[in-house]
Amino acid sequence: MKKKMTLADWILVSILVLLAVPVLAIMVIASPVLGISVPICGLLLAFRRRLGRLKVGLILLVLGIALAVAALTSSEEWERAEDNEYRAWVADRRRSPCGPREAMLLLAAIFLAGGGGMAVAGKFVGPKTLKERKKEMSGNGNNGADCPQETLEKRFEALLRQTGRRGIENVLAELGTLGFFSAPASARFHGNYPGGLLEHSLNVYDEAMLVRDAQLGLKPDIAARLPLDSIAIATLLHDVCKAEVYKEMEKFRKDKYGEWEKYNAYGVDYTGFPLGHGEKSVIRLLRWGLEMTDDEIMAIRWHMSGFDLAFQSPEIRNNYHEAAGKCPLLAILKAADGLASHVLGT
Ligand SMILES: [Fe+2]
Ligand SMILES: [Fe+2]
Repeated sequence: MKKKMTLADWILVSILVLLAVPVLAIMVIASPVLGISVPICGLLLAFRRRLGRLKVGLILLVLGIALAVAALTSSEEWERAEDNEYRAWVADRRRSPCGPREAMLLLAAIFLAGGGGMAVAGKFVGPKTLKERKKEMSGNGNNGADCPQETLEKRFEALLRQTGRRGIENVLAELGTLGFFSAPASARFHGNYPGGLLEHSLNVYDEAMLVRDAQLGLKPDIAARLPLDSIAIATLLHDVCKAEVYKEMEKFRKDKYGEWEKYNAYGVDYTGFPLGHGEKSVIRLLRWGLEMTDDEIMAIRWHMSGFDLAFQSPEIRNNYHEAAGKCPLLAILKAADGLASHVLGT
């Protein structure tokens, strides 16, 4: 969902614009090259994710070369100038330590170094643009709509088997019996198509791995609380409660003439094992003989947090808050579930 600008955001933006305009005007008057190049550089950096580091780096390189050529040829222009007043003006500017020529050379050096670095990084390090990143992810068989169902199933099973957890083979067999691999992830929202639940579970795993890496970068000592097997168990199995809930059924709606018409869609049917959401997943997994850590149980039980809490007793709410305070895996799973549902799943 696109975030709306609040009044405070608008006031902040207005102050920044009011400050930026005179600063830019002064820069343009003092040194037109600097005054124009700096905003261009700012715009390029602001759109670097959309353009990709390679393109931004190459544009900066071209700008750097153009500035260097302009700076180095400015002395020839001075030599050729016949107008004495102009010669004196140019000479005066060239003597100044912040004159256009020095500023241009300095800027050219910055653009060449920065642009070169970005171009090399864009070419050889990691994904380039958001579009290319998505393509790389689906190309690797991680997830994505164009990835065959069979590949997704194999990846899901392999990730769970890698945990070496007791009971995992039985869990896979039970999931197959319940129809987990062909189930949708919801009736009307994310992943509401056959195989959507499998795809959603893998998306949550991928998001959780990214979130985990980012958190470890900020707080390395938390690694022991976020082992890779727990990430796999919590993310891939958090929604096993949904396996048999969504059923294809006939529904009715009004057509454009106001007449009732039948159509096929998913509806919900909780009669199989009506036990809630996170708690149902945990109970199922334990009954299937899966060995689980306390953190995995807490993370899966409470992963819906606010959605589940509205009508709960104070005791349940307090339990949730206790779990949230002591279980970093819960925070990772909640964040990854939200990102997979509302970012990847859109
Ligand atoms: Fe869920
Ligand atoms: Fe989920």
